[in-house]
Amino acid sequence: MRPIRIALTKGRLESRATSLFQTMGLDCTTLLKKGRKLILPVEDYEVVLAKAADVITYVEHGACDIGIVGKDTIVECGAEIYEMTDLGFGKCVFALAVKKGTDFYGGYAEKVVATKYPNVARKFFETKGMDVNIIKIEGSVELAPLLDLADAIVDIVETGNTIKENGLEVIEEIMPISARVIVNIASMKLRKDEIESFLTDVEVAKEIIE
Ligand code: PRP
Repeated sequence: MRPIRIALTKGRLESRATSLFQTMGLDCTTLLKKGRKLILPVEDYEVVLAKAADVITYVEHGACDIGIVGKDTIVECGAEIYEMTDLGFGKCVFALAVKKGTDFYGGYAEKVVATKYPNVARKFFETKGMDVNIIKIEGSVELAPLLDLADAIVDIVETGNTIKENGLEVIEEIMPISARVIVNIASMKLRKDEIESFLTDVEVAKEIIE
């Protein structure tokens, strides 16, 4: 049988997840010296480095058993996976932000909202009963109101520095975000003992880190 595969989101969550693995007693030398390698053996596990949305895809389809990914991507993708543990790091919020001083809710014209998270934005405005035109942007969403493409953005805010340094302001917080452990539905049945042992080690390490 192949090793249990853990899909890990590249970038922001990578170093925190590596520290978590180390606290779990795993030797992470391969991860720390990965170079451009994408699949790294970490003791009895295989760690796969992928972009957030792909972590969900690999776990949903069973190519990986476990994933470490932000709640933002889980909510946006709406995949059929088990969401098991809130890791308590990678904390940020989904927020609605505008150019400083803008009256977003004023006037009758349909508003334009730019976002990397169209599903999250759609649901948010649906709950308000508000029709908006949502434009998908791939990154640096803060540009959209500055270039007058959009009246507002829905994006994740962590330190708030990007918003502040670009003359924007948060007018509403939508949802808190943090890193989660997700598990493939079939793996949870077929490799129950190994997955439960991983999840238990995660809980213990989380206590130590906190
Ligand atoms: C995220 C987000 C904001 C920024 C917020 O982008 O989309 O732009 O981080 O962080 P802050 O509140 O600490 O400034 P990311 O850096 O992931 O890059 P991207 O815009 O290219 O997606």
